Amino acid sequence: MTNTVHIPVLTQELMALLNPVINGVYLDATLGGGGHTRELLDRLGPEGVVIAMDRDEEALERAAIEINDPRVRYVHGSFSDMADKVMALGYHGIDGIIMDLGLSMTQMKDESRGFSFNSKEPLDMRMDRDLPLTAGEIVNKWSERDIEKILREYGEERKALQIAREIVRQRKRERIETCLQLAAIVERVYRKRGRTHPATKTFQALRIAVNDELNQLSEGLSNALKILKKGGRLCVITYHSLEDRIVKRFILAAERQEGSLVRLNKKPIVPLRDEQRRNPSSRSAKLRGAEKL
Ligand SMILES: C[S@@+](CC[C@H](N)C(=O)[O-])C[C@H]1O[C@@H](n2cnc3c(N)ncnc32)[C@H](O)[C@@H]1O
Repeated sequence: MTNTVHIPVLTQELMALLNPVINGVYLDATLGGGGHTRELLDRLGPEGVVIAMDRDEEALERAAIEINDPRVRYVHGSFSDMADKVMALGYHGIDGIIMDLGLSMTQMKDESRGFSFNSKEPLDMRMDRDLPLTAGEIVNKWSERDIEKILREYGEERKALQIAREIVRQRKRERIETCLQLAAIVERVYRKRGRTHPATKTFQALRIAVNDELNQLSEGLSNALKILKKGGRLCVITYHSLEDRIVKRFILAAERQEGSLVRLNKKPIVPLRDEQRRNPSSRSAKLRGAEKL
């Protein structure tokens, strides 16, 4: 495996929005490479706590070695269970929650995880290796119709039907084992390459399906409301429009219908041009924040 370091995104903007209190209790629900957790620790006093959660055990193991700080409590699991996990640790009110969605660069570049188009490894894409479904199972076992549906809904892929058809045609000849094989099938449908790889949307769709990402997000947001203290802040960074729509609607509904949250920013905060240049994977990031009433 490679050792690519994840560059944290929108860090200063996130910290400004979170506005940590010196000895507060915070949940970093997407620890990843630990960049945001480290920034938070720098701002907290000796009694401060960061509950650092990830559904990827490898991320937790790496961070536990690299961030050697008694103020951090590591938790394995999905943020859709954050309320139970946090309460099981004995915390009942949280001062702030960070959700920085999607994948870390470390996961993306680790070929054995099967997220990257260039990987000769099996199509896996599970963030948590305990999950039952892999991308390989979807492309080799699901019906053409179901594959088309996820490509259209989760990938917003305009050639969903043609790609699903080609996948089913190819798998009759031989099982589609690797990421490279799938990328080549999509390339054949597209014929020519633009600036982004033609398989980008297909890979995004499969990843969302394998990890049930949109349902996890909705449940994670509802959980966040349960454990935030009055005045506590929820900050979410999304990387594509499906996620951003869920976050935006959730915050608006909580503000207008229940009166339980108030938006901290009406328009999403996006990375400055300089950050986008230094870290191209930050380009699609959008940060939204809300305060518990
Ligand atoms: C973009 S990275 C976070 C990077 C981190 N903020 C940093 O500064 O290094 C996203 C992380 O969230 C994790 N993740 C994604 N969905 C999750 C979920 N439902 N529950 C817990 N962790 C999740 C991924 O495994 C990945 O490690």
